[in-house]
Amino acid sequence: MSIKQAKLDHPVHDLVARRTSPYAFDPKPVDPADLASLFEAARWAASSYNEQPWRFVVATKEDPAAYAQLLSCLVEGNRLWATHAPVLALGIAKLQFVRNGKPNKAAIHDLGGATAQLTFEATARGLAVHPMIGIDPDRARSVYAIPEDAEALTGIAIGYAGTPDQAPEAVRSRDEAPRDRKPLSEIVFAGRFDQAADLG
Ligand SMILES: Cc1cc2nc3c(=O)[nH]c(=O)nc-3n(C[C@H](O)[C@H](O)[C@H](O)COP(=O)(O)O)c2cc1C
Repeated sequence: MSIKQAKLDHPVHDLVARRTSPYAFDPKPVDPADLASLFEAARWAASSYNEQPWRFVVATKEDPAAYAQLLSCLVEGNRLWATHAPVLALGIAKLQFVRNGKPNKAAIHDLGGATAQLTFEATARGLAVHPMIGIDPDRARSVYAIPEDAEALTGIAIGYAGTPDQAPEAVRSRDEAPRDRKPLSEIVFAGRFDQAADLG
């Protein structure tokens, strides 16, 4: 079992156990057909009123200018390691319903759901995804002409996970650290908030 494998308290699907957000990426490019399938998986996520408020901008290293443009929307701490991922994307949420202009309270939730589906499709294909809140949304807005009713929320690094020596020195230890999670008793309640559910 790799150190990055989840230490499970209850059995889950292998895709859940294997998914991690790596800091080390191998330079191997992502096949365009695989990349299309990742966004197809995102496309078929559930969303409130089937609004599908997610939008993505994507750039690959095959187009260095487009890649540099997307990289420039990440904060410096993320640029450091994400620059080794062969594919970068931005996750953008349309914050208002298209049909009536009212605020869509579920937009960010639904972008997260779509990104999760993209991530599991990636895991199934031997790829890895590292999401990032550390982006510059104002820069993204001006670079990509994102309209006022939408907002770039996340960066998404996509590629094949590398070995720790392929990560920049400053973040290498993060890929070597064991993964940690709160126990179910702290996150699943019954009866009242903070009262652990008895899940057996
Ligand atoms: C919405 C979101 C934003 C994140 N933002 C960043 C980020 O800006 N930089 C970073 O290095 N990791 C970021 N992460 C990755 C988390 O740190 C990581 O998911 C967490 O430590 C658990 O590790 P795991 O994904 O390998 O299980 C983000 C994850 C999510 C879901």
